[in-house]
Amino acid sequence: MATSVVELELPQVDLMEAGDREAARLELARARRAHWLARTPFGYVVTRHEDVAGILRDRRFHSGLAMLSQMPGLEDDEYLQSRRSSILALEGEEHARLRRLVAPAFTPRSAERLRPFMREVVTSLVDTFSAAGRCDLVADLCDPYPIPIICELLGAPRQDWKLFSAWATDIFRIFNANLLEDLPLIKKASAELDQYVLALIEERRSRPAHDLLSDLIAIEEGGDRLSPEELVGLAEAVLMAGTDTTRNQLACSVALLADHPDQWRALAEHPERAAGAVEETMRVLGAVRGTSRFASEDIEYRDVLFPAGTMVALSMVSANFDPEVWTDPETLDISRQTRTQQMTFGSGVHFCLGASLARAELQEALPILARRMPNLAVDGQIDWKPSTVGIWGPARLPLVFDPT
Ligand code: HEM
Repeated sequence: MATSVVELELPQVDLMEAGDREAARLELARARRAHWLARTPFGYVVTRHEDVAGILRDRRFHSGLAMLSQMPGLEDDEYLQSRRSSILALEGEEHARLRRLVAPAFTPRSAERLRPFMREVVTSLVDTFSAAGRCDLVADLCDPYPIPIICELLGAPRQDWKLFSAWATDIFRIFNANLLEDLPLIKKASAELDQYVLALIEERRSRPAHDLLSDLIAIEEGGDRLSPEELVGLAEAVLMAGTDTTRNQLACSVALLADHPDQWRALAEHPERAAGAVEETMRVLGAVRGTSRFASEDIEYRDVLFPAGTMVALSMVSANFDPEVWTDPETLDISRQTRTQQMTFGSGVHFCLGASLARAELQEALPILARRMPNLAVDGQIDWKPSTVGIWGPARLPLVFDPT
């Protein structure tokens, strides 16, 4: 007989009270030792790797993003209601259909074809500061890096990179605290992006190219294909999900490696270790710290009853340090051999659609940076974003290194 989660005796964690991110991680570790679930001032948090994966793979738990449009005062907003059809918020058969249709366009092979372009973009950005021997890696490299890649992926020309960058900044305001105030800007950017992508779709229909939009337009499965609205929605989802994540993750990975000079040097000398460096730095310092789900019905999971509507946070940070999965989890080791995947790309039906692309972007950038920035050290202090933001990393990453 399952016990209602409301009645369970659970460890308490208050991450806001815990202070900095290291204190919050230790607080989660303390709770994880006691139980796979902990109570927070906002609801519950799942702490163990097995259960973070378990709940993310359990289709009865739905994406917390679908709840965004039901925020008090915003229930009737047409724009937010339309966002409910985003791949990130869809569930059930609707989500499965979209995922099935778009998956062939997001294989490791389609990420492969962008690798030379990624190297070109990273190299041209490093060239702007490498002779000075110092930089703010966030402003000088991480921020500008993903936009050209997403534009190249979609098939948008170089002269429009700036437009995409501005749209991305405004659309990202959806994650800020003052949604009511920001909504007009968000809507304007979103409408402009929609118009742009619709025009690009028309062009690609008559002149297909080697890009994501052409691939998506061509995809057809058993007579089913993507509508223009779905194509536009996917372009927006890719821009939303694929830029801030990658730029923050790259900054997190470099910040971590700056504290491990031997591994930075190893990466410069052995670029083939890049894949290991990406997985391990994403495990130890991931840009996505957690996600959320809500119970779409009364759910019995293990021996716990989650009443319909219960919100549950899934801690990627805690899962990524679970000693049941990783030996010596506190140690960064880019040559670590593990059969279990780090959790920063999520799990289950919403597992990051762009994981192959993001991995390729990071795998191409890190060895170039390691080679071009020898004897790397942090110059003063890193400014970290508040730990409450959904996609997290350094706001400023001042670095010094031997000029090249
Ligand atoms: C290091 C960079 C990245 C990280 C850490 C990351 C992380 C994630 C996570 C954790 C999720 C699942 C969210 C959840 O279950 O609630 C997700 C979903 C998604 N990601 Fe990524 N992501 C990254 C890069 C990218 C890129 C480059 C793209 C675009 C090409 C992308 C596109 C998407 C999409 C479309 C989804 C939604 C998939 C679905 O709901 O079926 N991501 N990502």
